Amino acid sequence: MMSSSPELAGLSAERAVQWLYPLITCPACRSDLDVEEVGVEPIRCPACGRTYPWLDHIPVLVEQDTPDPRLLELAEAWNRAAPGWRLNLGKPAKVLAAAELPLLETASGLLLEIGCGDGRLFPAYESRGLRAIGLDFSAVMLQMAVGGGFPLVLADAHRVPLRDACIDTVLVPFATVRYLDYLPFFVEVRRLLRPGGVLGFTAWNAWYNGARAVMGHRTEGWKKGRDVLRLSELLRPLGVAGLELTEVSGVFSAPRWSPLRQRWAPRMEGKAAASLARDIVVIARRP
Ligand SMILES: C[S@@+](CC[C@H](N)C(=O)[O-])C[C@H]1O[C@@H](n2cnc3c(N)ncnc32)[C@H](O)[C@@H]1O
Ligand SMILES: [Zn+2]
Repeated sequence: MMSSSPELAGLSAERAVQWLYPLITCPACRSDLDVEEVGVEPIRCPACGRTYPWLDHIPVLVEQDTPDPRLLELAEAWNRAAPGWRLNLGKPAKVLAAAELPLLETASGLLLEIGCGDGRLFPAYESRGLRAIGLDFSAVMLQMAVGGGFPLVLADAHRVPLRDACIDTVLVPFATVRYLDYLPFFVEVRRLLRPGGVLGFTAWNAWYNGARAVMGHRTEGWKKGRDVLRLSELLRPLGVAGLELTEVSGVFSAPRWSPLRQRWAPRMEGKAAASLARDIVVIARRP
C-alpha cells in the first residue's frame, strides 16, 4: 500500500466522479442511482426511495433497512482485523506475490477489485495504467485505501451495486474467494462483466494450510474462510454461472517466512499442478 497523501486522496475522489459514480446502482432494487452532492446528501434511489450514506467520498451501498446480520458480523470481524492486516502486508517484500502477477497480466480496461482491503495492489494498477475501482465491505479497510488514488465503494461482493456488463476485468486476489459463497458470487461477476470480460482470482489448497483448514472446510464454510479440497468445488460453480475457464495453474511458493518466497515461486499450468500447489490461479471469461 502506498503512503497516504492528500494528492492521492484527491485523485481517488476525482476518478470516482469519472469512473465509479456513473455506474452505481441501488443494492436493493438494482435501479441506477444519481449522485448529486458527493459526501453531503445521502444518495436517494429514485425507484424505491431508499437512501445510502457516504463515508467521505465512498458510497456505502449496502441495504440499510434490513441489513443482513451475518454480513454485518463478517464486516465487523474484518474491521477488527484491519490494523494488524496492514502491519503484516505493508512490508515491501510482500507487495506482489507470484500468484498475483498472472492476474495483473490479464487485466485491461476498467477493473474492479473485489475485497480490495487497504489497497495493497493499487500501486501495481497505477504502474500498469489500469483504471481500477476498489470494493470492500470493511469501512476500516477502505479508510486505509483512501490514499491509494483509486475510487472506492463499500458493498457486499455478493451484491455489487454496479450496472450490468460495465466492467472489463474483475480481480479477486489473495484468496479472498475463501470468504465468498462461490455460486452466487460467480453469478454476480458474470452479470458485471462485459461479454469477453475477464475474471481472475487465486485460491488456496486446504491441505497447504494444515489439518485445521481441511477440517474447517466442511464445518465452517465460507463465512469463516474455506479453502479448496477438490478443484471441482471451484470450477463447477464457475461453469454453472456461465463463465468459461481460460486458464488454471498452480504456484509453488516457499512458505511466507522464507527468504526464498519472492525468488522461488514457479507457476505450472494445468489442473494437476493447481491441485498440488499452494496457490490456485484461475482465469475465466464471460463468453
Ligand atoms: C484477504 S483480504 C485481501 C485484501 C486485498 N485484496 C489484498 O490482496 O491485499 C480480503 C478482503 O476482502 C474483504 N471481504 C471479505 N468478504 C467480503 C464480502 N462479502 N464483500 C466485500 N468484501 C469482502 C475483507 O474485508 C478484506 O478486506
Ligand atoms: Zn432502489
